[in-house]
Amino acid sequence: MAEGETIAPHGGTLVSLVLSKAEAERALEEAEHLPKVPIGDRELSDLEMLAVGALSPLTGFVGERDYRSVLEDMHLQSGVAWAIPVTLSVDEEGAKRVGGASRVALTSRGSTIALLDVEEVFRRDREKEAQAVFRTTDLEHPGVRALHDAGDYCVAGRVHAIRLPEHHTFARYRLTPAETRAAFAERGWKTVVGFQTRNPVHRAHEYLQKSAMEIVDGLLLHPLVGETKSDDVPADVRMQCYEVLLETYYPQDRVMIAVFPAAMRYAGPREAIWHAIARKNYGCTHFIVGRDHAGVGTYYGTYDAQKIFDEFAPGELGITPLTFEHSFWCNRCESMASHKTCPHSDGDRVILSGTKVREMLRAGIRPPREFSRPEVADILIAAMRGRDEA
Ligand code: ADX
Ligand code: MG
Repeated sequence: MAEGETIAPHGGTLVSLVLSKAEAERALEEAEHLPKVPIGDRELSDLEMLAVGALSPLTGFVGERDYRSVLEDMHLQSGVAWAIPVTLSVDEEGAKRVGGASRVALTSRGSTIALLDVEEVFRRDREKEAQAVFRTTDLEHPGVRALHDAGDYCVAGRVHAIRLPEHHTFARYRLTPAETRAAFAERGWKTVVGFQTRNPVHRAHEYLQKSAMEIVDGLLLHPLVGETKSDDVPADVRMQCYEVLLETYYPQDRVMIAVFPAAMRYAGPREAIWHAIARKNYGCTHFIVGRDHAGVGTYYGTYDAQKIFDEFAPGELGITPLTFEHSFWCNRCESMASHKTCPHSDGDRVILSGTKVREMLRAGIRPPREFSRPEVADILIAAMRGRDEA
């Protein structure tokens, strides 16, 4: 651990797979003679996370032994805890093309972005993967659907990133794990709680964050900005909500926003572990897991994503989960609360379904301020209006 750092990266060392300028130039020349493997946006976000060490100790896309051992018992071959295999898919034709090569060039939108040392090409065990990661093989599940659409084969091996993906959005929030770690050290934060979200932040989220902030030095609001379902609120709109919320309602010296480049898997419990490990790599010592974390539909029990943390030995994950029950505003308590702190009945509580909230926003009606801060609601109403008119 470097001086000033409070938590070691997963597996002990922060991985960096980004080549130096000179190495990158050589790699680009070499790539001209290598088989090309085009990758899509989901894998591009995995590649970015691998390159910057967000997925330490992984140094590339996993091979079959790691793949199977992660599916079977949530550990890599090395014994390090891991919840979701990070794979690079190719179809049969792609597998043939990669076949005998020892190196390939990974391309995104026609330009070479990385080299990969081909260690093996193996066939995906789709049923088993779906069942282990998503606990279902139902094609209505967005993660299972994405897995179904991915190629039948996986190419495994170490990645050498020639450059990071180019982003035209949220530039100032694109911090690598080394950068968030440095930012925490600079602020003198010894304990930092990470908050994963793919939604605009409402009062319940704020309550969780602020409850956690009472016991740690700082909050890293770490919204996921990789691919999400088409009916989730787009990341640019969410960012405006996060900015206004933090500016208006949080002490500036205790909070930070950075973006998490991952694609959403909707794998509920397994994804909660995966999210927590990645946030540890970003330097967080604590991680918030509330109701149905990373869930979708009714595939997971409300607290399954909390219970799964008990399947690991103490200290194995390193990062401390802070678990919260379903939270809401209670009119009689006159505060945010949960079943752990409020004795009243649902009739006294402001509980709105996501569908109901979307209906209100679309009609230009602000949900009650007990549910959402008015500044946040206004941004969402304006964004919806813009989209309906478009
Ligand atoms: S997601 O990635 O887990 O899908 P989401 O934005 O829905 O993101 O939730 C962010 C975090 O807040 C998760 O840990 C989730 O469990 C928690 N959460 C969301 N709403 C509530 C609520 N009303 N009560 C308690 N926890 C909640
Ligand atoms: Mg949720």
